[in-house]
Amino acid sequence: QEYEIKWKDFKILEDQQLGEGEFGVVFKGELSGSTSNENIAIKTTKPKVDRTILLALMSELKVMIHLEMHENIVKLLGACTEFLREGRLYVLVEYCPLGSLDLYLRTTVRIKLDSLVAIPERAINNQEIPGTIDSLSSNDLVNWAVQIARGMQHLQNKKIIHGDLAARNVLLYSGNQVKITDFGLSRQLLNYDSYVKQSQAMLPWRWLAIETLKSMIFTHKSDVWSYGVTLWEIFSLGLIPYPGMTWTTEFVDYLEQNLRLSRPKYASAEIYKIMMSCWEYEPDMRPDFRYLEDKLRAFFMFPS
Ligand code: ADE
Repeated sequence: QEYEIKWKDFKILEDQQLGEGEFGVVFKGELSGSTSNENIAIKTTKPKVDRTILLALMSELKVMIHLEMHENIVKLLGACTEFLREGRLYVLVEYCPLGSLDLYLRTTVRIKLDSLVAIPERAINNQEIPGTIDSLSSNDLVNWAVQIARGMQHLQNKKIIHGDLAARNVLLYSGNQVKITDFGLSRQLLNYDSYVKQSQAMLPWRWLAIETLKSMIFTHKSDVWSYGVTLWEIFSLGLIPYPGMTWTTEFVDYLEQNLRLSRPKYASAEIYKIMMSCWEYEPDMRPDFRYLEDKLRAFFMFPS
């Protein structure tokens, strides 16, 4: 009730789709304010989806209410439940103008690549792209990584397992503020047995920990594994992890043999060591998010 927003108080811009999943869709919208309208993002289900999908969006809403506010978590503005009986639910969240981190890395960051500094490869083939205005540095990559670790600490403090941490589920509020989103797969430790098996084909296997792939075990330590893959995405500027591989059970064998993602182009040896530690076979051997934040912060250089 506290979060209820009336249908008449917001507008969905149907022609401005921000994101799309198998069952869900995110539109840009506007929330009426006393003086002006506020840009928002509206998450809803696709028409004629199964009841379980609606239940999943409802549980995502519950998770977001439980999460309260954190600067690195997408803020819930409210929800419209007026059409719940017709099977429609609208979850209203803050609008992040720069979109998802994976896309931002593949486009904007790669274009601004010329100003990436303090990276060994850059020093070697030092080609300049003239005309870029806003500079971007390896600090930005580290800064995003640190902020994601902070957001994940908040999730852990609230006993929430994300379950689908990946660069596509990190949004840019500004060039120096990222926010974690998409709690569709997230589950609360408290009542997580309500969440059962899902077909493996649907799973984001490239981001999943070995024990998740083998036994569907989701823990904070499996989130740490996914965080490592997210780091790999950041420091490869948005490449698809395990390039060229497809989902087969052989992928599990590959991980079993202790084969891991190789060092992405823009990660130093130390940063690669941090991501590798996230992919320890034994979950207990992996660092936690507080340690990861501290470790990564050490690579952050304040502008001179
Ligand atoms: N895509 C998905 N969610 C979004 C949001 N809140 N802001 C901008 N783009 C998005």
